[in-house]
Amino acid sequence: MQIKDRTYIISGGASGLGRAVVEDLCKGGGYVAILDINPELAEAFVKNIGDGKTKFFETDVLESDSIAKSVEGAVLWAKETGKDIGGVIAAAGVGNPTKILDRKGNAMAMDSFDFVMNVNLRGTIDLIRQVLPHMAKTTPIGEDGERGCVIMVASSAAFDGQPGQVAYSASKGAIASLTLPMTRDLAPHGIRVVTIAPSMFETRMTAALSEKARASLLKVVEFPVRGGKPAEFASLVKHSIENVMLNGVVLRLDGGTRMPSKM
Ligand SMILES: NC(=O)c1ccc[n+]([C@@H]2O[C@H](COP(=O)([O-])OP(=O)(O)OC[C@H]3O[C@@H](n4cnc5c(N)ncnc54)[C@H](O)[C@@H]3O)[C@@H](O)[C@H]2O)c1
Repeated sequence: MQIKDRTYIISGGASGLGRAVVEDLCKGGGYVAILDINPELAEAFVKNIGDGKTKFFETDVLESDSIAKSVEGAVLWAKETGKDIGGVIAAAGVGNPTKILDRKGNAMAMDSFDFVMNVNLRGTIDLIRQVLPHMAKTTPIGEDGERGCVIMVASSAAFDGQPGQVAYSASKGAIASLTLPMTRDLAPHGIRVVTIAPSMFETRMTAALSEKARASLLKVVEFPVRGGKPAEFASLVKHSIENVMLNGVVLRLDGGTRMPSKM
């Protein structure tokens, strides 16, 4: 799918990995609707870009109605600019580490589990589900008749989750697992699906990691021995959008990292 003159809808676009994607897509001539729960971060960011190619829609991906209102706004904006919807990138996510049984013998609260699953998994599916009918109505382009691209964000924790990541791994493992069936559902519409599974990337989410945790994670990186940069994630999103042969795949973006059990 081309980036130039298409509108991309991205959740979690106010910070971290999502924000880097917004910057890249705008540089490539794309238009980006940023759906995020954090208006302070998003509004300052949109003002900073300031070229009319981004628009912020305050959204809580936990609420179907909130997503519906924002998707409606984004679709209207795309009609006004004449730039069809070309893709949806679901990058909103939360960590919230909690052991299923803590040192004192307390079991994990289901509220904590539900919160992570609802933002990372339900919120991802709900956003994509609501964008798809609009994407499927766009005029197909190129020799393959492509209509658009869905990008989801899993994690290394989908494969080798660490202590405290039962909920997070469950949410990200589900994203990885549903990539193929979603691809099969959407192929007749000319829509592709790519999931990216990053290891530790330098964002607000990982800024809170202790030095000990960071050092132990870096010990298991093969090469390069550092956290990933959001721009490196954005670069893979851009390639995934542009390369029509990438479909139904979970791409690990991790410098060869396999996460350890103990910190
Ligand atoms: N940073 C990493 O090391 C890493 C590794 C693997 C996967 N990921 C995944 O990448 C995605 C982006 O994470 P990040 O590192 O950029 O984190 P981040 O905290 O910098 O950004 C997350 C964004 O999601 C938004 N958000 C959170 N809850 C929301 C909600 N209910 N509704 C709407 N927006 C909401 C936040 O406001 C924020 O802008 C997440 O899905 C995360 O699980 C991150």
